[in-house]
Formats: sequence, structure tokens, C-alpha cells
Amino acid sequence: MAGSDQASAVQVVVSAVQGSSKYRYVAEDVIAHIAARELANRRNTKEAIKATKNKLHQVGAAYMPQRATYDRWLAELRQAAGDEAALRERCAEIMRQHASTQERLPILGELYGEVSRRIGAIHSVMDVACGFNPLAIPWMSLAPDAVYYAYDMYLDLAEFLQGFIALVGVRGEARAIDVSQGVPQQEVQVAYLLKAIPCLEQLDKAVGLRLLESIPARHLLVSFPVASLAARTRECWTITRPILRNWCRTGSGGLSNWFSQPSWSTWFTRIKRAHRRAQTGQKGAV
Ligand SMILES: C[S@@+](CC[C@H](N)C(=O)[O-])C[C@H]1O[C@@H](n2cnc3c(N)ncnc32)[C@H](O)[C@@H]1O
Repeated sequence: MAGSDQASAVQVVVSAVQGSSKYRYVAEDVIAHIAARELANRRNTKEAIKATKNKLHQVGAAYMPQRATYDRWLAELRQAAGDEAALRERCAEIMRQHASTQERLPILGELYGEVSRRIGAIHSVMDVACGFNPLAIPWMSLAPDAVYYAYDMYLDLAEFLQGFIALVGVRGEARAIDVSQGVPQQEVQVAYLLKAIPCLEQLDKAVGLRLLESIPARHLLVSFPVASLAARTRECWTITRPILRNWCRTGSGGLSNWFSQPSWSTWFTRIKRAHRRAQTGQKGAV
């Protein structure tokens, strides 16, 4: 297919997918990326539209609540703000509605407690394919000057999270982008890649390692689901998991294996050398 034909075929698929209420808030880049791949592998546009929707379901919609009432949630969070216990309770209720954060609720205190024991107060975070995880901010030991960058593929989720981050007095941004094609390159102290790699590998098999190598963070918190959403088996232990192990062992940072819970996830943290910092000769905490 000629370049211009390909571009217009992608646009046809994008428009058709955006026309569906289930996918209208997905960032256009994400739809276009998937559409281009599906057009190359399917017999016609109709098949490519169906396959693009299926893929979007697998990587995003399957984890989301049936109905996300972001305006109402933000209003409730505003009401709870100022009362730490009430705010945490409300955040937990909302996190319970996303398959990934729901699973982590019982260990939130333990998880983020361990992170801060290891690296101290957190000054900057990049939360990649974040889902509802920024709502766990009240459990994180963020410094008063902390900056939080949250990236996922939904425009309405990004707007909600932007409102929440501001509400809890944290600087930063929540943005809808296609993280499988890279993340913004501002340096951060810690990046979270929570249960994101197996999900993103459904879009691109090489994305896991590429992200690990390119995220400009000094510390990485990476997790893998023990079981897939649908199958509840270990099938989703992905190609990247052994690669990650090897990368951590042979790299210059330390590998810790925390929270090895048979029914939840295995967690790794890797102190990643600040390669860019070393290259540019910059110093100081981020
Ligand atoms: C398994 S969930 C993990 C969510 C979160 N990290 C957590 O552990 O709670 C995967 C997330 O990746 C997001 N996602 C999938 N593909 C994406 C893409 N190409 N760009 C940005 N976000 C994406 C989905 O919307 C979903 O929120």
C-alpha cells in the first residue's frame, strides 16, 4: 500500500474506533499505532477495525470499571481532602474498581513503605501505564516538593488524575500518550512500571526491554502479574521477565526481590545508574 493510502486507511480505522463509546477517550496515537499494525495483518478495513478494538480491550478496557464516573469521584475526593483517613478510604474505593490496583490494595502500605525505606523521601515519580495507581499517592512518602508524571492511554483518566494530583498538592502532569512508543525524557528519581510490561507486550514484543532501557529514572519499581486477567494461569509470565532478571543481575545496580506473593505479583527494584546524569556530569538528587 502506498504511504498516503496507508495513512488514509489508518485514519478510517481510527475514526471508526473513536466512534465507539467504549474507545472514544483512547489517545489517538494509541489507536493509530494499533490500527497500522492490524491493517498490515488483516484482509480488509472491517477486520482491522474489529482487531483494533479487540486489542484495545485486551490492553486497557479489560482492566477498567464498566463505568468510570470521574467527575463524581473527583468531587468526592475534594470533599474528603483534608481528612487523611477519609481521603485514603475514598482513594481505595476507587482503586478497587480497576483490576490492577484492586489486587495491590492489601499491600499498599507495605509496598510504598519499602520503597521509601530503600530510597528515602520521593522527589519525582514517573508512573508508566499508570491506570489508577496515582490514587495511591497518600501511601507514598512523597516529599513536599514532589513532582509526579502519570501516563496512560485514556484522555478522561488523564484529566481525572490531573485533578487529583493537584488536589493532593503534588506538582506534575497526567497525560494520555502511547507509552509503547516511548516516554517523555525528563529525569525522575523513581519510575513505576507496575504490571505494565505483559500488557504492553501485546502491542509490541520488544517494548519491555526498550522501556527498561529508556526510562530516565534512577530507581525502577517493576511488577509482573502472577496470573493473566482471563486465565488465572502463569501464561502471562512473559518473555521480558527472564530478560529483566538477567538485565538486573548483569547490570550495575542491585536487584531486590520483594513481595514474592504466589497469588499476586513478583516485584523487583533495580537501582539504575543515572546514565544520562553520568553522561552529562550533572549531580544532585532528582
Ligand atoms: C495492567 S494495567 C496496569 C495499570 C497500573 N500500572 C497498575 O499496576 O495499577 C495496564 C495499563 O496500561 C495502560 N496501557 C495499555 N497500553 C497502553 C499504551 N500503549 N500507552 C499507554 N498506556 C497503555 C492501560 O490503560 C492500563 O491502565
